[in-house]
Amino acid sequence: MSADDQKKAAGEAAAALVETGMVVGLGTGSTAAWFVRALSARMKDGLTITAGVPTSESTAALARELGIPLQTLDEARRIDLTVDGADEIGPGLSLIKGGGAALLREKLVWEASNRCVCIADAAKLVETLGKFHLPIEVVAFGHRKTANRILDVLMDHDIEMPARLRQKDGAPVLTDGGNLIYDANCVAIHNPAQLADDLKRVTGVVDHGLFLDLCDEALVGSESGVDRILP
Ligand code: A5P
Repeated sequence: MSADDQKKAAGEAAAALVETGMVVGLGTGSTAAWFVRALSARMKDGLTITAGVPTSESTAALARELGIPLQTLDEARRIDLTVDGADEIGPGLSLIKGGGAALLREKLVWEASNRCVCIADAAKLVETLGKFHLPIEVVAFGHRKTANRILDVLMDHDIEMPARLRQKDGAPVLTDGGNLIYDANCVAIHNPAQLADDLKRVTGVVDHGLFLDLCDEALVGSESGVDRILP
């Protein structure tokens, strides 16, 4: 199976978890988009949900196009299940997310959810997090000074490469919240919990892509089907 077939299979397996009346967090990225499509297909077959809560403007647009009713995070009285992709899945279902620049809204929705299921292709499984550049969302004001302070934190973790401002077509990428993303080439993150705390302590850092102790289950596409992984 190609990576895309694996993502699709994982998305469909996650859509099978949705039950009548649920409020469902809708992740961002190519794998989450497969889930949103599979959820819409189930709804066309008769499944009724209370609402989807999108984690990005792009997911909201896709869900609207597919006729999925939406609520904002603040409108939702609860979120029963959130399904979202990941850039890396490490030990204990620790994750790196944010490759699609949606990490802040994703984390807000994940933290408000009763159950979080990560869906991915098998290439996302790693023994140590950090090969995928860690996204760090920062406010635009004074961001180069913030980047210097991020470098100090990274150096304390034996990471010597400065984080790089994410750009597209020669301009900085803006998140849905109007912030910037710095991507840190960590190579190997030996103490993700400590790095997560240290980054959050930097004024100007809004959040980072380390999702720790948040994922209840991963559904990972493989050559033979979809593997269910628990923490
Ligand atoms: C979006 O900001 C990310 O967290 C995505 O969930 C992550 O990048 C996975 O994306 P793909 O499903 O496209 O690989």
